Amino acid sequence: MKMKQTRIVLIGFRGAGKTSLARRLGKKLDWQLFSTDRMIADAVGMPIAKYVAQNGWEDFRGVERKVIASLPLDVHGVIDCGGGVIENKANMFLLRQNSLIVWVDADIETIFHRLSRSADRPLLSQPDLSRDIEENYRRRQPLYEKYSDMRVDASTNDADTLCQMVIEAKRD
Ligand code: S3P
Repeated sequence: MKMKQTRIVLIGFRGAGKTSLARRLGKKLDWQLFSTDRMIADAVGMPIAKYVAQNGWEDFRGVERKVIASLPLDVHGVIDCGGGVIENKANMFLLRQNSLIVWVDADIETIFHRLSRSADRPLLSQPDLSRDIEENYRRRQPLYEKYSDMRVDASTNDADTLCQMVIEAKRD
């Protein structure tokens, strides 16, 4: 018998729309919402951008791993992950337990448009936004694909449709 899916895990590039979909799913299913970015910011006591500026990405990934390991398995939950969660295999092994893993995808233009309006995300590896997106988006697409059970396209579907697609795919 297949395990019940008590958790919906949202992965995908920054700016693809994971957080708004997570909130909507949480409300609709009446499931608890977990935002790993929020949990990280709470754990380090400062915004992520400030923490990364002071300590670097490696330390951030360490805190992220601890946060992922602390997520409960026995709670009905929607888990909104930071875009880089797939950089670590162990994270994905933990997240896979009892979960439907959804890749929230969007095209690169949509991502660029959204990220250029938000000032609070630190650049990952390149000194300007378009190069940063270009490099990391292309590198990560195969990882999102590899670790997900399904992909939803957030550039071409409205919020209600996305929500419906995920709920229909989930095993009870
Ligand atoms: C990151 C994405 C961010 C946050 C951190 C690193 C990444 O989350 O975890 O800045 O590596 O793509 P969002 O995807 O919610 O922006």
